[in-house]
Amino acid sequence: MNLLDGKLVSAKIKEDIKNEASAFTAKSGRKPHLVAILVGNDGGSETYVASKMRNCELVGFESTNIRYHVDVTEDELIAKIKEINQDPNIDGLIVQLPLPKHIDPEKITETIDHRKDVDGFHPINLGRMQRNLPCFIPATPYGIMLMLEHYGIDTAGKKAVVVGRSNIVGSPMSILLARNSNPGNCTVTLTHSRTANLKEEVLAADIIVAAIGRKHFVTADMVKEDAIVIDVGINREESTETKSGFKLYGDVDFEEVSKKSSWITPVPGGVGLMTIVGLLKNTLEAAKGTVYPK
Ligand code: GUN
Repeated sequence: MNLLDGKLVSAKIKEDIKNEASAFTAKSGRKPHLVAILVGNDGGSETYVASKMRNCELVGFESTNIRYHVDVTEDELIAKIKEINQDPNIDGLIVQLPLPKHIDPEKITETIDHRKDVDGFHPINLGRMQRNLPCFIPATPYGIMLMLEHYGIDTAGKKAVVVGRSNIVGSPMSILLARNSNPGNCTVTLTHSRTANLKEEVLAADIIVAAIGRKHFVTADMVKEDAIVIDVGINREESTETKSGFKLYGDVDFEEVSKKSSWITPVPGGVGLMTIVGLLKNTLEAAKGTVYPK
């Protein structure tokens, strides 16, 4: 078993981002600037946004967290997004998901100017990604691709099985792995809650991406010998063992699956840290205008 070490890889890439941010600031007289909008008090979302803001500071970006009460109207939120779209001192904007039920996430996503959509959720970015054109790639799939690239893992011709078809991870991941690029060139199966014979599908995989959101869903009996296993799960459970009062569990039963896999990401210390790197890279590219020239 070899570890795909998110701690090591994210630290290295963040160092590069920090140097590039410093060069950008010296040239332009301002820092790359990310704004994150957070609605309500979901504990997980609060933790993730705080981590995104902290990491911005660490690499020399400016970061602004705009918070709204859970009762904020869709119109209020849309008005704020339109204001940010027009602000030349803001490079990237993310609205943390999930949103309360009375707000349509599709409408919010489409209101964000695609040139500031550093989450890569806007249909323009999604379409451009599918066509292999310059775009913002969703942070988690982007981070996973950077991880595969860092370890020089040869994915071409491999059978990849993605478990979970979310807009945030599973669906874009399936597109990226199938693209004619490196990493990429996989034969991809995108599985979901209506997949027949899920276990057989996963058992046939050379590369498994588990993005279901269920603790230890992927067990050793579902994994082929020497498979590459990417665990996207961040399942939080209350715990007295940790300082934060929560313990994180992956979608993969690491202890058993790691005995069979050739490469595997741990939780924590794997994909979660790479997601931050994906977001930071997109924000830097938004500031520099390398994806969409300013
Ligand atoms: N919720 C879970 N993951 C993400 C993400 O990558 N971006 C946003 N905006 N919300 C999320």
